Amino acid sequence: MHYIEIESERLLFRKYENRDFPVFYDILSNLENMKYRSSEPKNEDDVRKYLQWGIQCAEQNPCINYRYAVVLKHTGETIGSCELAFTNKDPAELAWELHRNYWRKGYGTEIGKTLLKLGFETLGLRRIIADCNTLNMGSYGIMEKIGMRREAHYVKNYRGNSALNYEWCDKYQYAILREEWNVN
Ligand SMILES: CC(C)(COP(=O)(O)OP(=O)(O)OC[C@H]1O[C@@H](n2cnc3c(N)ncnc32)[C@H](O)[C@@H]1OP(=O)(O)O)[C@@H](O)C(=O)NCCC(=O)NCCS
Repeated sequence: MHYIEIESERLLFRKYENRDFPVFYDILSNLENMKYRSSEPKNEDDVRKYLQWGIQCAEQNPCINYRYAVVLKHTGETIGSCELAFTNKDPAELAWELHRNYWRKGYGTEIGKTLLKLGFETLGLRRIIADCNTLNMGSYGIMEKIGMRREAHYVKNYRGNSALNYEWCDKYQYAILREEWNVN
């Protein structure tokens, strides 16, 4: 299926646009925002390449990476990004990141629910997974609130920046099957 834009109660999920650069740069260059990622904070050049890659994701047909800029309906501000990505070989996987000024307002949970709806209802997927650092309570908090099950705890699985000591990090993996998905 081709890329589609979607929406939820408070959020619009649209294609990346060049005007998203300032907020994406603010997110991806910031240590607090990037603490639990395997990659380092990004420089301007990295973010420009990432933005162009995101724009291209929406042009592929069939689409294998539903990558969205997340926009607040009531102000029009871009507050983060998310994706539902899969290939013939890899399971469908969710990811999300919000600008730190917008954490703890339930937007992450709203994103997760919307991506599950896209995956199960629109794309007819069978199983969807997500993973995160075991210290990333916000990320696995979303997974639990949207009904995903913890399936694995990988010990010292990847080198994370954990705000730059590059420690070996544990990772949780969560999953949900279509028959477990509860629309509400
Ligand atoms: C992960 C992230 C998207 C969470 O977004 P959010 O909008 O704050 O999430 P929600 O407000 O929907 O919170 C969901 C649940 O997670 C838990 N949670 C969220 N932030 C938490 C925190 N700082 N400490 C403890 N629990 C937290 C809570 O259980 C919360 O539910 P509650 O508010 O009803 O108690 C956000 O923290 C973020 O962008 N982090 C940086 C990028 C990142 O780490 N992305 C994930 C990579 S795997």
